[in-house]
Amino acid sequence: MISHDILVVGGGLAGLAAALNSDPALSVAVVSKVHPLRSHSVAAQGGINAPLGNNPDAKDDTWEKHAFDTIKGSDYLADQDSAEMMCRLAAPTIYQLDTLGVPFSRFPGGVIAQRPFGGAGFPRTCYAADRTGLVILHTLYEHSIRKNVQFYNEWFVTKLVVDDGKCLGVVVYDLASGEIIPVKARAVIFATGGYGRVYLKTTNAFINHGSGIGIAYRAGVPLQDLEFVQFHPTSLFGKNILITEGARGEGGYLVNNQGKRFMEDYAPVALELAPRDIVARAIQTEVDEGRGYEKEYVHLDLRHIGAEKIKKRLPGIREICHNFASLDPIDTPIPIQPAQHYSMGGIDVDESCASTVEGFFAAGECACVSVHGANRLGGNSLLDTVVFGKVAGEEASRRMKNLSGSKKAEKLLQDEVVKLKSRITAWQSRDSGIKVHRLLDRLKNIMSDRVGIFRNKKELAAALQEIAMVRDDYKEAYISGDCLRYSQELVNIIEFASMLDLAEVITLGGFNREETRGSHFRTDFPKRNDKDWLKHTMVKYEGGKPCISYADVKIDKYEPKERKY
Ligand code: FUM
Repeated sequence: MISHDILVVGGGLAGLAAALNSDPALSVAVVSKVHPLRSHSVAAQGGINAPLGNNPDAKDDTWEKHAFDTIKGSDYLADQDSAEMMCRLAAPTIYQLDTLGVPFSRFPGGVIAQRPFGGAGFPRTCYAADRTGLVILHTLYEHSIRKNVQFYNEWFVTKLVVDDGKCLGVVVYDLASGEIIPVKARAVIFATGGYGRVYLKTTNAFINHGSGIGIAYRAGVPLQDLEFVQFHPTSLFGKNILITEGARGEGGYLVNNQGKRFMEDYAPVALELAPRDIVARAIQTEVDEGRGYEKEYVHLDLRHIGAEKIKKRLPGIREICHNFASLDPIDTPIPIQPAQHYSMGGIDVDESCASTVEGFFAAGECACVSVHGANRLGGNSLLDTVVFGKVAGEEASRRMKNLSGSKKAEKLLQDEVVKLKSRITAWQSRDSGIKVHRLLDRLKNIMSDRVGIFRNKKELAAALQEIAMVRDDYKEAYISGDCLRYSQELVNIIEFASMLDLAEVITLGGFNREETRGSHFRTDFPKRNDKDWLKHTMVKYEGGKPCISYADVKIDKYEPKERKY
């Protein structure tokens, strides 16, 4: 049986950071559903935050100020010790990436360039034009190859096997051969990204089904704060491709159908650079109240920025606009609308990325450390992946000597292989029923219509009922072909179970949380309520259903206050 000391699941930034920072004396491997350079980290555009103070307007920036902005941006739901840790590590992380060869954009004189981003007191977002995720991913991948990290590409993890509170390994579906394979590991690190494709409109790639989070949940690992779903304010209308916040950081205006820069009505000081929850709601309100275009979008106007700056700092955005909207932002405003972008919640882990299951760790978007609370600041996600990916690799390595492994591991892993094979046979042996893509369409519509930017009790209750109906129909799902090589149908039918679970957990958390905080806006409870709701939602799969409990938020030096921008 294939066996490793540390198995990293996911080849994006968090996964590669984990692999690169694991002890090289151990046997470490990365399993990735796609080639690592196709991971969704590649799509991150605008930048990565660190208080370097390189921008002339950021001379007084410090990690404490970054931490304060992060915690305030989180609507005080972030655990303050974790947020402080991330921000303390931000500058050393950027210098390390720079040393590894990440081609950051530079200011005259050669220092790393930094641009303003939403919710930040200083311009502290380091960038490589508008392709920051791409260049960091390529750099870390090159180093992984140089260091001979073993990769299993196009291997899709279907199950995390846990016995008696200990992680034993995973079961994978090897897309190329069609085989179901057990992989034993003394430690497993999930860096599997987000679940954007549970929503109809999302900036996420087609691979982002969230199955890593769902698999951990079914293995008995609690999930935290899943009701906090980030909607990015500016996705390209119709396609929902990300139009980076960097476009507003470089001076872009948001304009309604009356030609008004409407953000002055919602965030009079920060304007377009208010945090994402506030800007996304503002855009949606303008559209809902008839001040958008075609009842769908508003304009992001970059024309006044000038051709030179657009070509130099936003070349990828210009290319996206050319290719997908047949327009040039140098002379035409970009039609934009909010779309699901990020999950603040995820697999519950502590600041060493360890979960409640021995030997099981998580980092990056699939994890909830929790540093983003109820709303993440732009530029803090790349930081989270690199900082906590490294922490996960180091911690898993450090704890390795206490992880004994289990004598039963091979048998239990083989048992799971047999179970999956018989499920596959059952799906194949039916020749009628429901195709899973039809169910997926229904689920996405439920989530977008009822569990979106604005929520209320009636819609959330209806969503829960409808999700249960889709779950019922999933029993009738089937796959048509016999060939299991590169069967996207098989991937989809397996992943759909996780998508149903995530949709249910997001909705249930939102239904129960009778307040408004960060990205979770309840029209029937429009105020934040610290007395009753300054707490984390924890959801565990028990007795065949989600069981909710609540946990304290770790408050350090920043007393919760009303957020004003
Ligand atoms: O807008 C952006 O470039 C996205 C950045 C982020 O999600 O951190």
